[in-house]
Amino acid sequence: MFLSLVILSVAVLTFVLKYVFSSSGPNPFEEDTREPLKKMVHDRKQKNKVLKQGFLASKVPENLDAIVIGSGIGGLGLAVLLAKVGKKVLVLEQHDRAGGCCHTFTEKGFEFDVGIHYIGDLLDHKPFRCMLDQMTDGQLHWEPLENPFDQVVLGPPENRRQYPIYSGRTRFPEELKKCFPGEEKAIDEYLKLVKEVGRGIWLLVLLKLCPVPLAKFLVYTGLAKRLSSFFKMAPRSLTEVVNELTDNKDLRAVFTYIFGTYGNMPKDTSFSMHSLLVTHYLNGAWYPKGGASEIAYHMIPIIEKAGGAVLVRAPVNRILFNDAKEACGVSVKKGQEEVHIRAPMVISNAGIFNTYQKLLPKDLQAMPAIQKQLSLMKNGEGGLSIFVGLNGTKEELGLKADNYWIFSENNFDELVEKYINGKREDSVKKIPLLFVASPSAKDPTWEERSPGKSTLSLVSFANYEWFEEWKDGKVTNRGPEYKELKEAFIESTLEVVLDVFPKITRDKIEYIDAGTPITNTHYIGAPKGEIYGADHGIARFSPELSATVRPATPLKNLYLTGQDVFVCGFAGALAGALTCGSAILNRNLHLDAIAMAKKRKLIKLKEE
Ligand SMILES: Cc1cc2nc3c(=O)[nH]c(=O)nc-3n(C[C@H](O)[C@H](O)[C@H](O)COP(=O)(O)OP(=O)(O)OC[C@H]3O[C@@H](n4cnc5c(N)ncnc54)[C@H](O)[C@@H]3O)c2cc1C
Ligand SMILES: *[C@@H]1O[C@H](CO)[C@@H](O)[C@H](O)[C@H]1NC(C)=O
Repeated sequence: MFLSLVILSVAVLTFVLKYVFSSSGPNPFEEDTREPLKKMVHDRKQKNKVLKQGFLASKVPENLDAIVIGSGIGGLGLAVLLAKVGKKVLVLEQHDRAGGCCHTFTEKGFEFDVGIHYIGDLLDHKPFRCMLDQMTDGQLHWEPLENPFDQVVLGPPENRRQYPIYSGRTRFPEELKKCFPGEEKAIDEYLKLVKEVGRGIWLLVLLKLCPVPLAKFLVYTGLAKRLSSFFKMAPRSLTEVVNELTDNKDLRAVFTYIFGTYGNMPKDTSFSMHSLLVTHYLNGAWYPKGGASEIAYHMIPIIEKAGGAVLVRAPVNRILFNDAKEACGVSVKKGQEEVHIRAPMVISNAGIFNTYQKLLPKDLQAMPAIQKQLSLMKNGEGGLSIFVGLNGTKEELGLKADNYWIFSENNFDELVEKYINGKREDSVKKIPLLFVASPSAKDPTWEERSPGKSTLSLVSFANYEWFEEWKDGKVTNRGPEYKELKEAFIESTLEVVLDVFPKITRDKIEYIDAGTPITNTHYIGAPKGEIYGADHGIARFSPELSATVRPATPLKNLYLTGQDVFVCGFAGALAGALTCGSAILNRNLHLDAIAMAKKRKLIKLKEE
């Protein structure tokens, strides 16, 4: 029995490897397309000419190869990959500017980012970095954060402990050990586990790309769990694993604090998802020089060069299908009218719920294969963002290029449970977990763009239901009660900030406003105000779901890209695009990116 299992596994692996290495379509990373660095553009009007091209039927290019719904990094990234192999792609965005979570907005002269605070894994010559360089023609630059890049703050004001988190494969554990003498073994064990599990991610890609019968075989024989530590550890909760490693409550908290980057409390978090995030930042953390809008700004021209376009104020209200139930275009709602646009392929970056529940005709939505996918996924937690514009430089205000994760206690599970499931009147009084960062302090071009000013970005979670009653109101005028509730959240949040950052005082605040879950619905199309798209709890990482929710949907010529088809985060959503591009171009683009990085490194070595 054992022997036959081994033989079978070897046979399957051979087949799998053959699949992984086979490639038939064109390679977007074939040529090095980086161009000499051009002068950075700060002028907003000039940037808006690229980022805010309003939809008009007359601007739609003819003979499109594909239409992408949504201009987040998952949508733009995919469009760039296709453009790089000569395809003419139209990207349609419902908001008035391109970028999705990477868009920025300006109020009272302060430019604010929406969903980019820090991105990991961007060391020179790493595949992720090389790939991004290619996808922006070498025009996007990444500024490293401080090391320590994160500060974990635990406890009430009278008993506050602060733990700095350093990047670096040796520095990360070394510095933790300084904070927790006697816990050396737990720290080493934790890091070993995290690295091992993180490496198993290859099978997640494979399950989403390989032929369905093979995926089913790997899932239902249990081989997926045997082949990859990622799937082996996926059913275990973060709390469970960490509690086995140490009894020290602060260390447990420090091991888990980064749950804020995917949004599930540790007891509901899959240890595998957590491992991805920890390894993501292990080599450092970066911020896009010039702010998050630089990302879309340097991607759009590549799409245009291939004959495509990125048009905004273009809400897609349904996907069009032919009689054979194949996707053949989309309908854009303009006032009372519908504009129909045809293309042989439609790719949705709008998230699984928007795509399946809002954009499909009823009969296709009812298909068992679609219902199956919907039954496996659920909506993620809502986000609360507070944007603060300050009078003062980073030096005057004591701000650095780092992030603060502030918790009122170290028992995260109870803390979050009580807050997020509590009544809004109670929860609004005290914000038990808060992310605080200064985007302006991370950007070396800021001082030149907005001398003497600074920004703060505060993020926490919020229950969609607390705000749901106002969802149908007008975005800038939802009435006095909604405004009052927002004010109350702002006040509780400020209390935390003013206490932890003594140099920030009320008189320095020139602008402050809050974005609630219903704000997210409006600006980033998140149906339940989700901060990170679909839920990332333990169920998300079952081999079955991983193999079922894949870029190729049950409907011919309809694909999914972005965070819901892979995992959240800038890198996660881009991995979604890479996986989707692989399915469309019929080659493994992840391997292409790795091969390109190796080639770059060799060339660099020869030059030196
Ligand atoms: C507050 C916040 C902070 C974050 N911080 C970080 C961070 O520091 N580091 C990190 O790596 N990640 C961070 N993230 C997560 C990261 O930004 C996202 O996971 C990622 O950018 C999602 O990309 P996406 O392309 O999948 O989706 P999105 O960026 O959400 O793009 C989807 C797009 O589709 C559009 N759309 C929806 N429906 C339609 C329709 N019918 N017609 C046309 N367009 C439509 C939406 O308007 C949107 O532009 C943060 C997110 C938030 C919200
Ligand atoms: C900003 O602060 C400076 C001095 O600290 C002050 O002179 C100036 O009036 C302030 N500006 C605003 C808009 O409050």
